[in-house]
Amino acid sequence: MVLTKRLDKVRAVAAIELNISCPNIKDAKLVSQDARATYSLVKRVRKFTQKTLITKLSANVTDITEIALAAQKAGSDAISLINTLTAMRIDVRSRRPMLAAVIGGLSGPAIRPIAVRMVWEVYQKVKIPLIGMGGIIDTFSALEFLIAGASAIAVGTANFINPRVSIEIIEGIRRYLLEHRIGSVNKLIGSLRCQT
Ligand SMILES: Cc1cc2nc3c(=O)[nH]c(=O)nc-3n(C[C@H](O)[C@H](O)[C@H](O)COP(=O)(O)O)c2cc1C
Repeated sequence: MVLTKRLDKVRAVAAIELNISCPNIKDAKLVSQDARATYSLVKRVRKFTQKTLITKLSANVTDITEIALAAQKAGSDAISLINTLTAMRIDVRSRRPMLAAVIGGLSGPAIRPIAVRMVWEVYQKVKIPLIGMGGIIDTFSALEFLIAGASAIAVGTANFINPRVSIEIIEGIRRYLLEHRIGSVNKLIGSLRCQT
C-alpha cells in the first residue's frame, strides 16, 4: 500500500503491476491462490492509485478464471498471466535438489502450452485486457498468445538467450500481418477458430 501510494505520485510510472504470484516464498500460500485474498488485496491497492493497475496471476491453481474474476471485480485494469510454475529437479548422483530452496519457479518454452491454455480460459471469462506470457521465444509463440486472447505479451526467459528477441518478435508480427492480409494486430486478439 505504501509503495503504491508513493508510485502513484511518480509521473514517469505508467502502470503498477501487483505480483501476487511469486513462487519463491517459504511455507505460505500465495495471495493469487485464493480468490477472496486476491479480491481483498486488489481492492485495497486500488484505493491508493489512479494509474493502470495490473494483477499478475499464478498458474499454480486449479481454476485460474476464479482468481481472474476476483481481480477484475476488485478493480484491476488488466491481468497478466502466467507467473512461473512450481517445479523441482534432482541431481541423481548426489541425490540433492538442484535448487537451494528445493522447489522453484519453472519458466520458458516448457510452460507455454499451459500459459496459452490459461490465457484462453481467462479470455472467455473476463472483460479486462490480458497480458500473456510464459515461454514466448519467437514470433509464432507470441502469436499463439494473441490468438488465444492476450492484448499484449511479455517476454522473460528468452531474453537470457537472445536479448534482441522482443525486437525480432515485433518485426515478425508485422510480417505475419502483411502475409495474412490482416489490417491490425487487434484483429488477431482472441481470434482462435474453434470448430463447434
Ligand atoms: C529469473 C526470473 C525472475 C523473475 N522475476 C519475477 C519478478 O520479480 N516478478 C514477477 O512478477 N515475475 C517474475 N518472473 C516471472 C516472469 O515474469 C514470467 O511470468 C515467467 O517467467 C514466464 O515467462 P517466460 O517463460 O517468458 O520467462 C521471473 C522469471 C524469471 C525466470
